[in-house]
Amino acid sequence: FGYINYLVERDRKFILKTLIDGLRRLEYRGYDSAGLAIDGDREGEVFVYKSVGKVALLERAITSHIDLDLSRSFSVHAGMAHTRWATHGPPSDRNCHPHRSDPKCEFLVVHNGIITNYRELKAVLERKGYMFESDTDTEAIAKLAKYIFDTQRLAGQISFSSLVKAVIKELEGAFAIIVKSTHYPGEVVAARRGSPLLVGVKSEQKLKVDFVDVEFSSEADKAEDAAAALLTPADPNHPLGAQVQRSQSRAFLSEDGVPHQIEFFVASDPSAVVEHTKRVLYLEDDDIAHIHDGELHIHRLRREDGMSSVRAIQTLELEITNIMKGNFAHFMQKEIFEQPESIVNTMRGRVNFDTRKVTLGGLNAYIKTIRRCRRMVFVACGTSYHAGVATRAIFEELTEIPVSVEIASDFLDRRCPIFRDDVCVFISQSGETVDTMLALRYCLERGALCVGITNTVGSTISRETHCGVHINAGPEIGVASTKAYTSQFLALVMMALQLSEDSLSKRERRHRIIDEMHSLPRYLKEVLSLDAHLQELAKTVLYRERSLLIMGRGWQNATCLEGALKIKEITYMHTEGILAGELKHGPLALVDDGMPIILIMTRNSLYPKVQSALAQVTARKGQPIIICSKDDTTVPAQYRTIRVPHTVDCLEGILTIVPLQLLAYHIAVVQGKDVDNPRNLAKSVTVE
Ligand code: G6P
Repeated sequence: FGYINYLVERDRKFILKTLIDGLRRLEYRGYDSAGLAIDGDREGEVFVYKSVGKVALLERAITSHIDLDLSRSFSVHAGMAHTRWATHGPPSDRNCHPHRSDPKCEFLVVHNGIITNYRELKAVLERKGYMFESDTDTEAIAKLAKYIFDTQRLAGQISFSSLVKAVIKELEGAFAIIVKSTHYPGEVVAARRGSPLLVGVKSEQKLKVDFVDVEFSSEADKAEDAAAALLTPADPNHPLGAQVQRSQSRAFLSEDGVPHQIEFFVASDPSAVVEHTKRVLYLEDDDIAHIHDGELHIHRLRREDGMSSVRAIQTLELEITNIMKGNFAHFMQKEIFEQPESIVNTMRGRVNFDTRKVTLGGLNAYIKTIRRCRRMVFVACGTSYHAGVATRAIFEELTEIPVSVEIASDFLDRRCPIFRDDVCVFISQSGETVDTMLALRYCLERGALCVGITNTVGSTISRETHCGVHINAGPEIGVASTKAYTSQFLALVMMALQLSEDSLSKRERRHRIIDEMHSLPRYLKEVLSLDAHLQELAKTVLYRERSLLIMGRGWQNATCLEGALKIKEITYMHTEGILAGELKHGPLALVDDGMPIILIMTRNSLYPKVQSALAQVTARKGQPIIICSKDDTTVPAQYRTIRVPHTVDCLEGILTIVPLQLLAYHIAVVQGKDVDNPRNLAKSVTVE
């Protein structure tokens, strides 16, 4: 998160609060340590604060510095802050961002992502005498910036953006970075490749501009040559060799000659800027945003055919209340309880319950092509993967197209064969998960039609796919995904319905599904009314357990996997989702009178088979808690039950997951776990 004020007088207290508040909004993305940098009291001085743990601890660490003059005012100031999710090096003060080039902090960097060639960079820079202080990949960026700057200083002036351009040309891997420097006071440069980054703009004066031109400057060439000389002196084929793109510099964000009073916010996602401004500009991969003198310039690392030469300043639709907890104790709880509404938002304007027609506008132009495809491949990670597992059967049934569901990392590891007549569907709440994004690019290269199912307008996956569906569940902040799952699930069912619209033989089935979709919000409210019962189960029966098995089959396979993931994620209890069809092939060995089990036994065509799973479990003295249909009188009275409304088989999973979300939540609360920020996890996994 970065905050830059220009000709808007701000005291240090305000600046610190803005940075800390920004971090708080981003904390769900990573929270093992936090740090920030602000200007010092004298010219060329910077104050850097770091703290292991959550943002609140950083705030405490800063306020305990009694010498810090909070009333000191700045009319131009550039501050930056970061909350970390450790990839290289354990959470510690020295691994915490910002990372510096040298003890004077000539260059400071905050970074999301992973620099995969940092070892090579580090080795070269160490040979040049640079002393590394952390275990992180990020530090190499700061040191490289200083190296190039020092070499260039001898050769003359270089702008901050040209310098950063030369730096990122050398970086491999994924990054979103903000760079601040004592040599360029009041300026920051932000750049991205693979990890999301946006710039919010706020001014009391009306901004005339609604886009920013992309500039292709030639000034960076000298610096790039210096970097090339450092890193690959003997390799003429190195990309930094002779052929450097040269082009001209153009417009920027400012009214004709009138200095703006303006503030800029740089952030990984819009939730951190929406309380300040709704005007944002999303950076594209390899964009370099240079903020200085009240202006925003976008430079490109390279010019590419087909790449737009402007970046629009968009208006966020997000409301600040969407990202606040309201009366709920945790975001996860709020998001679980939002499901009757979020599901309506997924359907809004897309389902006509009178004509029983589903229209996903984002797919319209491609429906014919999709219908003709040879197979469909769903690719996703985590909960989004489970949404694919949950809907595969109804997809295959309604469309008669074979569907495979792939975990993105495994799909890439196998280099799965993909053809031009495949349709690949990328399911991602954030739209930024790096494995899913890399799988998308892999499929694009092979000519497949790529469809995105995301919850984040403007995200990389929604931008890079040919077409897609926004699930419109609203921002999801709790790390454990809940409402996004049910909305992804429903959006995929809706897609299958639209694809099978012409099929007469499927008509009745389709109508029944659409009729039941109409009742889903009511059913969900009914399930949510079980909250107290589930809290009781969590408090009295489950919270002390070390292990839990969740069993079911067919339409409930995905619920078992997703329910187990929820409990694992936030309670750290070992939980396994078991497909009951496989019970005899191993998992039954785990069952005895002490093993806690939840069995999902809803009234559908597979009911008799689940009954035999129950018999197998009870024969081994298992005492499962049973999730069953509300009106099921056949479940023997000795079992504890969780009763959910009856619905059509392919939508059952939207209802049966909710008690498991609530159980996970209550177990975690009873255990005193950090529900919204479970240990070692992060909401958006933008590293491989
Ligand atoms: C992380 C999150 C999960 C999420 C998964 C995929 O692991 O903690 O909640 O399901 O990433 O994220 P995506 O944004 O692609 O759905």
